Amino acid sequence: MRYTGLINHYRDRLPVDDSTKLISLGEGNTPLIQLENIPALLNKNVDIYIKYEGLNPTGSFKDRGMTMAVTKAVESGSKAIICASTGNTSAAAAAYAARAGIKAFVLIPEGKIALGKLAQAMIHGAVIIQIKGNFDDGMRLVKEVADHAPVSIVNSINPFRLQGQKTAAFEIVEELGDAPDYHCLPVGNAGNISAHWMGYKEYFDDRKAGKKPKMVGYQAAGAAPFVKGAMVDNPDTVATAIRIGHPQSWDLAHKVETESNGWFDSLTDEEILSAQKLLTEQEGIFCEPASATSLAGAMRDINNGKIAEGSTIVCTLTGHGLKDPDTAISQCTDEMININPVMDEVRDAILNNM
Ligand code: F0G
Repeated sequence: MRYTGLINHYRDRLPVDDSTKLISLGEGNTPLIQLENIPALLNKNVDIYIKYEGLNPTGSFKDRGMTMAVTKAVESGSKAIICASTGNTSAAAAAYAARAGIKAFVLIPEGKIALGKLAQAMIHGAVIIQIKGNFDDGMRLVKEVADHAPVSIVNSINPFRLQGQKTAAFEIVEELGDAPDYHCLPVGNAGNISAHWMGYKEYFDDRKAGKKPKMVGYQAAGAAPFVKGAMVDNPDTVATAIRIGHPQSWDLAHKVETESNGWFDSLTDEEILSAQKLLTEQEGIFCEPASATSLAGAMRDINNGKIAEGSTIVCTLTGHGLKDPDTAISQCTDEMININPVMDEVRDAILNNM
């Protein structure tokens, strides 16, 4: 049967009925790729799988939540959606609003969103409101303005977002035949880690999985409120997607940590970028910096034994590397070779670089 998106695929587990008009771009059903070279480099006996959420229609996991949020907004008669965003939510909101024929308003922190994400919001025709402030300021404003203007909020405080995003856990259980031992995710607002935990619990309760994973959330050191145990007022990190100091799902995330016996930890920008590069060079998988936080953390905790040998680990790569070409290029120090268009010079370029 033709795959037509996650709502249709999991409609029995989502808040829709036969009369609901689905707003979908075929999101979900993303690859679960086993790493082949990195475990050998670590010299540890572990199975690491990458859930490549960057292969969703707009290049991030946000599409899972956005298909639900926009479907429900349209069902309730809404003509406009609004979000604050570090970039990916705005890209997804813009695309799904275009698909639905409604308006998208996106509040983004001036100068702090990656180029690919800005291009997406612009080309899909969202109304872009740049603020002289950070994501947390944007989120506060969105919550305030929703009482004064006819707009539906599609940030992850919208419960339909998490409903859509829980389906990633279903897909993982179905592919592995059970839940993994550990599930590692980058954490900003902590909506996604909470949504995954909902999904795992649902499948466990319905006996579709025999166990539940320990949920491990990794943050960037300059934006790590869950590690500090307190909100952070001026978050900063190269991983702009998770440049968040006042997470919206604070209580939910702590529940996930306790219930799953998991933990939060943080990584420096250097560790994050080096994991991003390692993954591209060793496995051929390109994710944006924030996404690499999950793998960077998993590698550290595998090395120090916190994640035991013999474990099955899933790392979510939340967004595609093409989202942030500037950061990718700035990490590549190899000179390009410039030649005249003659065969000899091409041959020399090859022979000198074998
Ligand atoms: N990874 C990426 C690539 C993201 O874009 C985000 C969040 C996260 C991880 C963190 O997910 O907030 O559920 O813990 N991006 C939001 C945005 C804030 O506006 O695009 P979370």
